[in-house]
Amino acid sequence: MTREFRHVGVVGLGTMGAGIAEVFARSGLSVVAIEADDAALTRGRNHVENSTSRAVARGKLTYDEQRELVARIDFGTDLKLLADADLVVEAVPEHLELKRAIFSQLDGICKPEAILATNTSSLSVTEIAVATGRPGKVVGVHFFNPAPVMKLVEIVRTVVTEQDVVDDVEAFAQKLGKVDVTIGDRAGFIANALLFGYLNHAASLYESRYASREDIDAAMKLGCGLPMGPLALLDLIGLDTSYEI
Ligand SMILES: NC(=O)c1ccc[n+]([C@@H]2O[C@H](COP(=O)([O-])OP(=O)(O)OC[C@H]3O[C@@H](n4cnc5c(N)ncnc54)[C@H](O)[C@@H]3O)[C@@H](O)[C@H]2O)c1
Repeated sequence: MTREFRHVGVVGLGTMGAGIAEVFARSGLSVVAIEADDAALTRGRNHVENSTSRAVARGKLTYDEQRELVARIDFGTDLKLLADADLVVEAVPEHLELKRAIFSQLDGICKPEAILATNTSSLSVTEIAVATGRPGKVVGVHFFNPAPVMKLVEIVRTVVTEQDVVDDVEAFAQKLGKVDVTIGDRAGFIANALLFGYLNHAASLYESRYASREDIDAAMKLGCGLPMGPLALLDLIGLDTSYEI
């Protein structure tokens, strides 16, 4: 029987987690959003408020819809608030030991049938999964930045992810209005494995002073028709996150 994901959680409300919480709340789900401390929680909440205010300004949401969307998200700093979640997506910084520690805690807090997902871009989902007692219910769910806009979700199965977990997460991604691709657990998956060779090459062209930042970005925008240049994209992803990937 297909699982229904009604109560969902997000851990880490930075660039990605705030966007993922917004995607979930836009779909009418009740969301619990967890940050490390009160200051980070305020930043995460502001991220959601600002992003949805921009959607109101562009006529994509009404003011009332925005208020309802934000009200569907419960913000907190205690992972125990995730006890009733059917699915939790972790989006904390790209450090294996931090992610493993969070998965181990989630394993003790969440219902045994809950699915635990990571938004990691480059770490081994398998190594994260084995920090729990339910590796069959751990999966990669890799959203792209900005999550409310970008269509693709890479679903990463490890050799022990249960088939019905993969099937249900694929159906869930489609319900969110995303397009899913399911792949095996390999560093960078599809998009980043291809993208980061290019981004690194752009950084090394700049490092060797071959061209200015503006010219490198102009070459790819105007010469290749991309929506932004590689150095602007590195900034959008975040240099710290890009470095870890
Ligand atoms: N930035 C991107 O373009 C992008 C795209 C896809 C996937 N990712 C992946 O998403 C993940 C998050 O990346 P990001 O760019 O959003 O990072 P970020 O640094 O913007 O956000 C991470 C958030 O996690 C919070 N955090 C840290 N420790 C925590 C804890 N113990 N409990 C709860 N929250 C905690 C931080 O306060 C921060 O707000 C990484 O695995 C990254 O590889 C990033």
